[in-house]
Amino acid sequence: SGQCEYNLRSPICCIMGHVDTGKTKLLDCIRGTNVQEGEAGGITQQIGATYFPAENIRERTKELKADANLKVPGLLVIDTPGHESFTNLRSRGSGLCDIAILVVDIMHGLERQTIESLNLLKMRNTNFIIALNKVDRLYGWKVCHNASIVKAMKQQSKDVQFEFRTRLTQVITEFKEQGINTELYYKNKDMGKGTFSIVPTSAISAEGIPDLLLLLVQWTAKTMSERLTYNNIVQCTILEVKVVEGLGTTIDVILVNGVLHEGDQIVVCGMQGPIVTSIRALLTPFPMKELRVKGSYEHHKEIKASQGIKINAQGLEHAIAGTSLYIVGPDDDVEDIKEAAMEDMRSVMSRVDKCGEGVYVQASTLGSLEALLEFLKTPEVSIPVSGICIGNVHKKDVMKASVMLEKKKEYATILAFDVRVTQEAQELADEVGVKIYTADIIYHLFDQFKAYIDNLKE
Ligand code: GTP
Ligand code: MG
Ligand code: NA
Repeated sequence: SGQCEYNLRSPICCIMGHVDTGKTKLLDCIRGTNVQEGEAGGITQQIGATYFPAENIRERTKELKADANLKVPGLLVIDTPGHESFTNLRSRGSGLCDIAILVVDIMHGLERQTIESLNLLKMRNTNFIIALNKVDRLYGWKVCHNASIVKAMKQQSKDVQFEFRTRLTQVITEFKEQGINTELYYKNKDMGKGTFSIVPTSAISAEGIPDLLLLLVQWTAKTMSERLTYNNIVQCTILEVKVVEGLGTTIDVILVNGVLHEGDQIVVCGMQGPIVTSIRALLTPFPMKELRVKGSYEHHKEIKASQGIKINAQGLEHAIAGTSLYIVGPDDDVEDIKEAAMEDMRSVMSRVDKCGEGVYVQASTLGSLEALLEFLKTPEVSIPVSGICIGNVHKKDVMKASVMLEKKKEYATILAFDVRVTQEAQELADEVGVKIYTADIIYHLFDQFKAYIDNLKE
């Protein structure tokens, strides 16, 4: 995979937006899968990736443009959760992508995480296309399966067309209030020059899907050929660290550039220091299948960017999601690379109080840990931290926090974000007098922090 006469890598596209706007369903519609219905509570709680080869995109867009010359080998799409507690995953996804799809529910307009996603995209200067989804919910909508949106709209009654225009105008106004100009994509003469394109879609009956796909691949190839030109320097980010039955601990990564080979020596950032290991297996889901969903994997001797890959190697238990993966080349000094790999952790470690007095902070990922440490550092809060950990709260963490009981009792506290507290850990904490505050929504944890801090200051 990845071969193409233009030597371009596949664009990486991140799909973002408020909860339940239909992000996963849109991908299901393109893949012909049913991932969304298998999700607990119908909510995405992990970041995922799917590779769409150019031939599938060509097939899917042929009614709009026969034999489209796509120039890119395919499209790598990253699905993100819309639920408010996954800001870190939205941030990680948007940090990796070349372009984004911002999904808006036509019946709801802009919502809280639409705006949050918009701000992430603005901050990183990422271009995006708006999918105005669920058009089939317009009252009286006549299904035109997989039709282009212009064709589908012509089939609709005057009432449906009127409701569509009313809601579209409302959404355009709401974007304007956020300082963003938008226009229906086929009317947008200023695409890429300050006016963002809207593609009306349905993830259920697939109207507008050809438009969305064609616009994505053609526009990225046209405007990003330099950025998408393949190069050999490995650029690779860890999305998730997961235990897989039969494989042990694996990492899901996005390979943005370069090639990975089976047997390559790699270095990743670990909780207890750099992890040096070698790639035992390079696995991908089959094309058009989701990386995060358990299934069968394709084995590869080598993989060229861009791809979503599952890597199996020894010693990955303490690898940290959100950090980079490095390859040790024949001329490289492993020590230099270990140093580089730990760079992501260094800024975090520097926040830990050297004299050893402070609370213990725990979070699910490096990104969320950083957010918490940032908060604790602000002058209004200014709570010292003596220890940090990424992952669930175990007895050993309670033991570490309990050291404070003798030094400064109020610091014998664990502040835990988006992690589980094991029963033994809670029992030990109760027994020795360590307080554990947990939350899985970042704002809620901040509120608890504030209450705790106010308590301390009294
Ligand atoms: P999170 O990942 O949890 O943020 O949600 P999401 O944006 O991925 O939305 P999801 O795909 O889970 O869809 C949410 C609900 O909307 C599901 O019940 C879908 O069946 C429904 N839905 C999604 N797209 C459409 C659409 O185009 N039309 C209609 N009628 N329903 C849709
Ligand atoms: Mg989803
Ligand atoms: Na959902």
